[in-house]
Amino acid sequence: EDNRRESLMIVSGYAAKFFHESLLDTDEGQSIGLSYFKERGFTNDTIKKFELGYSPDQWEAFSASAIRNGYQEEFLVESGLSVKRENGTLYDRYRGRVMFPIHSFTGRVIAFGGRTLKTDKNVPKYVNSPESEIYHKSNILYGLYFAKKSIREEDNCYLVEGYADVLSVSQAGIENVVASSGTSLTVEQIKLISRFTKNITILYDGDAAGIKASLRGLDMILEQGLNVKVVSFPDGHDPDSYVRKLGTNAFKKHIEENKKDFILYKTTLLLKDAGGDPIKKADVIREVVESIAKIPDSIKASVFIKECSHIMQIDERALLSELNKMRLAKA
Ligand code: CTP
Ligand code: MN
Ligand code: MN
Ligand code: MN
Ligand code: MN
Repeated sequence: EDNRRESLMIVSGYAAKFFHESLLDTDEGQSIGLSYFKERGFTNDTIKKFELGYSPDQWEAFSASAIRNGYQEEFLVESGLSVKRENGTLYDRYRGRVMFPIHSFTGRVIAFGGRTLKTDKNVPKYVNSPESEIYHKSNILYGLYFAKKSIREEDNCYLVEGYADVLSVSQAGIENVVASSGTSLTVEQIKLISRFTKNITILYDGDAAGIKASLRGLDMILEQGLNVKVVSFPDGHDPDSYVRKLGTNAFKKHIEENKKDFILYKTTLLLKDAGGDPIKKADVIREVVESIAKIPDSIKASVFIKECSHIMQIDERALLSELNKMRLAKA
């Protein structure tokens, strides 16, 4: 109910402040957390704007402080900030991690992602808040609160995978950027974006997982009636690492020069594996037409059929008849 939701948001706001102050105002936070963010190239402005933080490497630093300040156990546990032991006492979920608060659409803190500073493969890289009454992962895009104005102005939304990608891309002056944060893109997330723009540009990681996610994502975006482009990155790079490598201007240039509409992206990608094999080429064509078949607007679809016919050097009528077959099969 509303009171419970408000209590959860209040305790989350308190936690964000606690972690932010612990990053900026404590010796441990400065020497471990702040120097980590600085090494990654994040500026003070970015750290302040996104309210980045640090959770002390102790079992109860946060929980004890919250209890001392009158926050109720119930909400500390429900928000996932604290975990209850068998004996009833609380310990901190986030310890010795750099903290990324996740803001609601209206700017309230509703959840956290905490990144480990260890390189140990057995430690999970990110620990995220559990689902709660105020946090439904599938309905949230990291960074949307800060990006929405720019998304509307630019009439485009850049979609990245991770927290650090949002920070780096935004810091580079491209503020219309949000992250799906590791979970695969959902219809709800696309609908959120569509309140501000009908144009999405996918900037996923240049690894096998990122490429697979981009193909799945573009089909979902088309199905929702939005326009989608894709920019790929060299293997092993993500937008964050690539901004750092190239610098701001060359990064922007990379985006402009490598922005492909979904047909060109998909055909280029799939044809690479097809070689000169005509059967494989036919499969590629079918897969591309499958994406086109997802577009609700049939005029738009026929424009893309024309483009596909051009790129693949294949008769438009053959493509149209394939498209109609797929549409009938769907109906
Ligand atoms: N993620 C997660 N849990 C993990 C790994 C990833 O929740 N164990 C989510 C995080 O939101 C992360 C995103 O998926 O930001 C993308 O994952 P990945 O590319 O592995 O991490 P990066 O964001 O690139 O993290 P970093 O640059 O800090 O290494
Ligand atoms: Mn709910
Ligand atoms: Mn990745
Ligand atoms: Mn990264
Ligand atoms: Mn990444």
